[in-house]
Formats: sequence, C-alpha cells, structure tokens
Amino acid sequence: MTGIRIEVFTIFPAVVEAYGDVSILRRARDAGLLDLRVHDLRLGADDGHRSVDDAPFGGGAGMVLAPRPLFAAVEQVAGGTAGLARPLLLLGPSGRRFDQQAAEELAVLPGGFSLLCGRYEGVDQRVADHLVDGELSIGDFVLAGGELAALVVIEAVTRLVPGVLGNEASVDDESFGAGLLEYPQYTRPATFRGWDVPEVLRSGDHARVARWRRTQSLARTLRRRPDLVAARGGLAFDEQELLVEAGEVELLRQHGYDW
Ligand code: ADE
Repeated sequence: MTGIRIEVFTIFPAVVEAYGDVSILRRARDAGLLDLRVHDLRLGADDGHRSVDDAPFGGGAGMVLAPRPLFAAVEQVAGGTAGLARPLLLLGPSGRRFDQQAAEELAVLPGGFSLLCGRYEGVDQRVADHLVDGELSIGDFVLAGGELAALVVIEAVTRLVPGVLGNEASVDDESFGAGLLEYPQYTRPATFRGWDVPEVLRSGDHARVARWRRTQSLARTLRRRPDLVAARGGLAFDEQELLVEAGEVELLRQHGYDW
C-alpha cells in the first residue's frame, strides 16, 4: 500500500501537529499511509523578531503576510533533500471550493501536495500569483487563518487513501459517494426511550435493507439538498418509483415530478 505525502506551511505548526497526532491521522501515519510534514513559516523570517507580516500598502486595518518570509520558507524546503510536494495550494476564502470531489482528486495525486495557510487580513498577492499553484477555500465563510482549513483538507483526503479506513466499503456508501446524502444509521438498543429502530433493518433481509437505504438516501437528499439531486441530473424513473412506494408522492410533486 502506498501512502500520501502532505506538507503544510503555517505560523502555528503546533496546531497542525497536535491534530495530526490523534485519531485517523495518527493511525494513517503509523501505518505509513500518511507522510505529514509540517513547516514553520517563521523559518523564512530573516529579522530578529521572526516577523512574517507587515502593514498593507494603501492603508487599512490589520496585517498582511509578507512575500519575503513565505517565499523563503517554501524555497528552503523545496531546495532541501526531500524537496517539496507539488501542487502547493494556498488556503483562503477566495480559493476554489473544496468538496468531496476535490478531496478525491487530491487523494490520487502521485506525489502528494502541499498547503500554505494564510493568516491575518490577507496574504501578499505575489504569493498567490508567483509562489503557489492554486487556491482552496473550505466554504463561504472567513476563518482567522488557514490552519483549520488545512486540517479539514488533510482529514478528508487521508480517509480516502486505500487502507486508512478499516472497512473500504464505507467510503463508497457514505454521503456524496453517489452524489447523494447517506441513509440514516442505527445501532443498539433496538428501542431507546420508546423510539424504535425501523423494523426493516432488523429483518435480516439484505435486499429489503438495501432498498430501504436507497429510498432513504433519495428522499433525504431531495428534501435537504435538492441542489445535489439537480447536479446529478434529477431522479431516474426507478428512483421516483422507490419514493412513490415509500409514500413520498408529495415530496416528488414539490420538486416538480409529475405523480
Ligand atoms: N482561511 C480563512 N478563511 C478560509 C476559508 N474559508 N477556507 C480556507 N482557508 C481560509
């Protein structure tokens, strides 16, 4: 089994290291399936204060990460014996939206990839223009920095690397796997505070269970994320039939299906 190499440039290496030391990332590293290398951006700072930021040209609030220390840190790593995993992606709210498909694309990059965490009010544009290969955003909201975004990307990608999850089937079945949300899951007890687990799941009839799960996935996605259903080209006729059988005619009608 081959692993994936992911490098991170950050002014808070301890944050990335701490999360990389537990749970799935720790297990993936121990199994040789994740080669996580965290680099302190301050290693590129050349003044006594190890400063990495400066006031914005043109005025305005806050500080901007400066090009000199960022280029220096990246070039120092790239020039070392291990080199640098490319592409190098800058994390920030103006990047390409990171989603499950982006995670799948990153997970199969043969040489891995690197992440550069932005901070403060911004990053000097020359970093985006001339140092990195692309930009990634984890959503339409603004974080104080790219560290949490980097961890989101690392975790979503690492769990797709073959061998990282014990049960390989679980990746195919889960939300977004086929452009749909996942069906509801239950475990023991069969009755909790008067709420029962659906009878079909205890029937032992695998075909019925599969059919129920598919129907639940379809209904849940249509109800909660009609955008996902539209993106996969709507519901096929047999999928609509499943929903009709499950008594969801009204739901279908609400979404423009003629029943
Ligand atoms: N840094 C700040 N906000 C971010 C976002 N939404 N995605 C990625 N990095 C960020």
